[in-house]
Amino acid sequence: MKILGIETSCDETSASVVENGWRVLSNVVASSMKDHQKFGGIIPEIASRRQLEFIQMVVMKALEDAGMRLKDIDAVAVTRQPGLVGSLLVGISFANSLSFALGKPLILVDHIRAHVYANYLVKKKTGRERPLFKKLPLPAVGLVVSGGHSSLFMIRDFSDFKVFGETRDDAAGEAYDKVARILNLGYPGGPVIDRLARGVRENPLRFPSAALEGSHDFSFSGLKTAVLYYLQKNQGKKDFSLEHVVHAFQESVVRVLVEKSLEACRRKKVGTLLVGGGVAANSSLRARLEEAARKSGVTVSFPSLDLCMDNAAMIAGLAYHKRAGEVRSPKKTCLC
Ligand code: KG4
Ligand code: ZN
Repeated sequence: MKILGIETSCDETSASVVENGWRVLSNVVASSMKDHQKFGGIIPEIASRRQLEFIQMVVMKALEDAGMRLKDIDAVAVTRQPGLVGSLLVGISFANSLSFALGKPLILVDHIRAHVYANYLVKKKTGRERPLFKKLPLPAVGLVVSGGHSSLFMIRDFSDFKVFGETRDDAAGEAYDKVARILNLGYPGGPVIDRLARGVRENPLRFPSAALEGSHDFSFSGLKTAVLYYLQKNQGKKDFSLEHVVHAFQESVVRVLVEKSLEACRRKKVGTLLVGGGVAANSSLRARLEEAARKSGVTVSFPSLDLCMDNAAMIAGLAYHKRAGEVRSPKKTCLC
C-alpha cells in the first residue's frame, strides 16, 4: 500500500510516499525558515503564504522521486493537528481536494504521534532493507521533544497513544530557541547551541533542572530565566564564556530528559523507548540517552537526523496503521 503524505503544520512544506507504513520511497521538504530568521521566530502569516507557494511543487517532486504518478497512490494522508492554523489549512485543503479528485481515502494524522512513529521509517537504498517492527517492539514509551512540545507517551499499538507527561510551560526546543535569542545566536537555537556546546570538555558552570518529583511532567521556563539572570550578572566579565553557558544550559535539558524518560520506562515496565521531534537531533541527548538506556537494559531509538525534523514521511507512515473506521472515504465531505 502506497500512501502520499502531506505535512504543513509550521514552516516546512513536505510530501512523501511511504510503502506499507515503513519504506520511504521519497521525502521532499521545502522550508520558509530563512524568511523567519530576521524576526527571531516563526511569523504565522508568512509561513502559510509560503506553504501555498510550495505545496504543489513539493507534492509533484515527491511523486517523481518515488517514480510514481498520482493514479498509483492508494490513499492521501495529511497532518491534522497541532500546528499553525493557516499552515495546517493549506495542507488539509490540498489533501482533501486530491482525495476527492482521485477518489482515494483521506487519512488525518496527529503530528506529535507521527514524530514518534518516524523511528519505524526506513529509507529506500539497496533493496535489502527490513521493517523495524520486530526490532522496536510495542509497548513502548515515546518521548517527543520539539519546538512546540515535550511529551511522554505510552504506546500500546499505533492507534493507542496515551500522554502521561507534558511540559508545564516551554517546550524543550522552545527553550533552546529562547536561550539562543537571549544570546543573539539566531533562529533556530537548537543546532547552533548543540554545535557550540560540543567543544566543551569541563565546565564549572551548572544550571538547575526542574525535577518535578513524583511527576512525569517537564518544566523549562525556570532554566531559561536562570540563564537570563546569569547573563545579566556576568556578561562582559573577564572569565565569561559563551560556550560554558550554552553547554550548562544543554546539560540541564539533557539531564532531565534522560532521567525522566528512563524512569518512565522503569515505572511502566517497558523495554522500548522511541524518541522524536527536532530536539531528538541533539548530539548530546542522543549520546547520553544511548549510554544510559544501555545500562538500564532499554532499547532506545532515534530517527535519522532529517526525519527528526518536520517531514511528511512520518505522516504517511503512521497513516498506514489507522483503523478502517478512522479513514475518511472520498465520498464524504466532512473532515471531522
Ligand atoms: O520537530 P520540529 O522540526 O518542529 C516542531 O514540531 O516544533 O522541531 C524544531 C525544534 C526547534 O525548536 C529547534 O531549535 C530544535 O527543534 N532543534 C534542536 C536541534 N535541531 C533542531 N534542538 C537541539 N539540538 C538540535 N541539534
Ligand atoms: Zn514537529
